[in-house]
Amino acid sequence: MLVSATEMLKKAKAGHYAVGQFNINNLEWTKSILQTAQELNSPVILGVSEGAGKYMCGFNTVADMTKAMIETLGITVPVALHLDHGTYDGAYKAMKAGFSSVMFDGSHYAIDENIEKTKQIIADAHAAGISVEAEVGAIGGEEDGVIGGGEVADPDECKMIADLGVDMLAAGIGNIHGKYPANWTGLRFDVLEKIQEKTGEMPLVLHGGTGIPADMIRKAISLGVSKINVNTECQLAFAAATRTYIEAGKDLEGKGFDPRKLLAPGVEAIKATVKEKMELFGSIGKAD
Ligand code: 13P
Repeated sequence: MLVSATEMLKKAKAGHYAVGQFNINNLEWTKSILQTAQELNSPVILGVSEGAGKYMCGFNTVADMTKAMIETLGITVPVALHLDHGTYDGAYKAMKAGFSSVMFDGSHYAIDENIEKTKQIIADAHAAGISVEAEVGAIGGEEDGVIGGGEVADPDECKMIADLGVDMLAAGIGNIHGKYPANWTGLRFDVLEKIQEKTGEMPLVLHGGTGIPADMIRKAISLGVSKINVNTECQLAFAAATRTYIEAGKDLEGKGFDPRKLLAPGVEAIKATVKEKMELFGSIGKAD
């Protein structure tokens, strides 16, 4: 069932668990994540960066594929199709294509401009029943060409943006897209605590979910994080499983070169990663 992310995140915040956003790259990714969510009776958010959207032939293709898959696979758990780190124009294109949720990443604008643009997007999105994520501070590292300096969010700015009526708020708290460097000093729980105090009921979003230790994830959830984004970890799992298959020469045995066989270990690896994260985030059985 394609829905906005609003209700599932309100429930997650009240129930002290988090819903996973898993970024998609192609048909296999989308199908694996949807099937795992259904099997585990978990709500789920499919994340689409603008780069991945382009790769998959545009937002219309992505939205149509997702809707068709939800119907054909009989997916009844709540699924949000969410634009990840959207530009202003990108957010409008995704909404028009049928996405049920968008992130407007205005973190690189001055706060006044971020507020103006966010307001406009909220008004138009809410009129169409679409949820909105905004970002304050910046997520470090690079994702699909979006580069963030890793500035830690100012809790007062978070409150300003939350008060505009966004449905979820991403705040930079030392989190990074991609793998964490060996000298990473961890999440700024002191800042998260202040943000949570100032923003109250607002579901908070933790980007850069790959490689954050389980105890930090649990603590972040206890401090109000209700949505956790995971991208790189599924890519690493897919790549490692595919490598094992090919290095074992399986593609050379019989019809092992058939893409349905060649991609199967990677698909299983994505499913296992998504399952592990849903267990850690506490979203299993929370679809009803
Ligand atoms: P990772 O690639 O580090 O898991 O981050 C995903 C993310 O935050 C998507 O916005």
